[in-house]
Amino acid sequence: MANTFDVVVIGGGPGGYIAAIRAAQLGFTTACIDAWSTAEGKPAPGGTCTNVGCIPSKALLQSSEHFDHAGHQFAEHGIAVKGLAIDVQKMLARKEKVVRQNNDGILFLFKKNKVEFFHGRGSFGSRKGEAWLIDIAGKSAQTIEAKHVIVATGSTPRALPGTPFDEKRILSNAGALAIASTPKKLGVIGAGVIGLEMGSVWRRLGAEVTVLEALPAFLGAADEQIAKEAAKVFAKQGLTIHTGVKIGKVVSGKQVTVEYTDANGTAQSADFDQLIVSIGRLPNTEGLNAAGAGLALDERGFVHVDADCRTNLPNVWAVGDVVRGPMLAHKAEEEGVAVAERIAGRHGHVDFNTVPWVIYTSPEIAWVGKNEQQLKAEGVEYRVGTFPFMANGRARALGDTTGMVKMLADARTDRILGVHIIGPMASELIAEAVVAMEFGASSEDIALICHAHPSLSEAMKEAALAVDKRTLNL
Ligand code: FAD
Ligand code: NAI
Repeated sequence: MANTFDVVVIGGGPGGYIAAIRAAQLGFTTACIDAWSTAEGKPAPGGTCTNVGCIPSKALLQSSEHFDHAGHQFAEHGIAVKGLAIDVQKMLARKEKVVRQNNDGILFLFKKNKVEFFHGRGSFGSRKGEAWLIDIAGKSAQTIEAKHVIVATGSTPRALPGTPFDEKRILSNAGALAIASTPKKLGVIGAGVIGLEMGSVWRRLGAEVTVLEALPAFLGAADEQIAKEAAKVFAKQGLTIHTGVKIGKVVSGKQVTVEYTDANGTAQSADFDQLIVSIGRLPNTEGLNAAGAGLALDERGFVHVDADCRTNLPNVWAVGDVVRGPMLAHKAEEEGVAVAERIAGRHGHVDFNTVPWVIYTSPEIAWVGKNEQQLKAEGVEYRVGTFPFMANGRARALGDTTGMVKMLADARTDRILGVHIIGPMASELIAEAVVAMEFGASSEDIALICHAHPSLSEAMKEAALAVDKRTLNL
């Protein structure tokens, strides 16, 4: 096995494995080192996203949505379901199968693209001339040599101070994806993306879910109008969300007791069977020997990079969750590709203005670009067009009419500045808005495009028409 490479990627999550594949496609001899193992000790590349993130969470969201539909929506279609029950173990086994398919898929892609895979933990060793020596600990223990290094070591969940995860009662994302039977009472700290998605899974399966959020506003990152709509829908679904709380002591015994003060400053206490702590994630630089190599971190512990993902060290790059910017798999992938292109002397580009966000609750929430609060704060004059799914024929046929599409366009030029969706298939619909914004489209451009009927995408066209106050179906 060769031990000298043009490009060595440390970390095999979406940032790392995609960077490795693109580097190999560009003709570089490439290696990828990843430490993740299955319970049996086998390699499990794909990082957080594949193992305990995007993929397993969407598998559980799908299973729980089917259960919810069977229990609450089938009857309206004339479908009677008797003896409806959920086998949580079977649901978890399916989720594991989906995860393994993705792990194996990445190993296959490595082989196909001639990326050398090393299962173990990579760390910076000394320099050898212009090259870097990378020490690998674990199954593939050895030292390899790299002309270029891409650090893609991802992130880890942040724990509450003094309350470590035990993954039995106090759960990180990993534990939240492996709860063995539906808890009667589930607590969630943090009403962010993980809190809402995982809270939804277990609520649909019958848990009483209480979400405790520190910030006074709900879903502060979203457009206010969309966030308000979401709060209403989640309340209707039985998710209890308290904002503006301050978490105090957390005591774990047979149950977990959380002491907190509510938004009025009143002391409260709640008992849960299990508690998911989803209060953000921390960059993962542990075990890299960053200090030894002189790799600069920023004040929050992220690997410090410039706009092109260059670190302070020659020929060392960093991408994904371990660097600044949104912690999203597609952002990590885009950076990985851009870095491989830059190493090849090509023009790598990531447009941070058009990175879409999706929250996979039901209804889904998705957005791209600026929201109304941001435009107001920046003093930008804009026009707004909204169109409710209630007035969309396909949504009515689906029986899923909650929410709207909202388009924001520059008042002077009509250029689209942001699109915000809450509603069915928002994750898919947002792609049209991303393309439009990437091409510098105006709301009129979307309004002039023929959209298939009946389709949810017509709501996008109608929102664009609404910017000019000329919706057709409302
Ligand atoms: P990671 O995926 O974290 O991968 C880093 C890899 O590097 C890991 O395999 C780790 O073991 C390995 N590693 C670390 N240090 C070393 C070392 N020294 N040597 C070798 N290997 C090392 N994002 C979305 O866009 N959509 C979603 O739907 C979504 N859902 C999510 C759901 C949950 C529950 C969570 C927790 C996250 C979700 N995310 C989602 C975020 C997404 O998972 C991350 O943004 C993405 O995984 C970041 O990719 P990465 O390659 O930077 O890091
Ligand atoms: P998050 O940043 O989305 O949300 C954390 C929430 O916890 C915030 O609302 C914050 O105000 C709150 N919080 C922080 N400290 C608190 C405290 N002490 N008490 C109460 N509330 C507190 O982080 P989350 O949900 O942990 O997810 C991490 C990241 O993973 C996300 O930012 C996102 O980038 C990624 N992710 C993406 C998904 C997607 O794209 N669909 C799905 C899940 C995660």
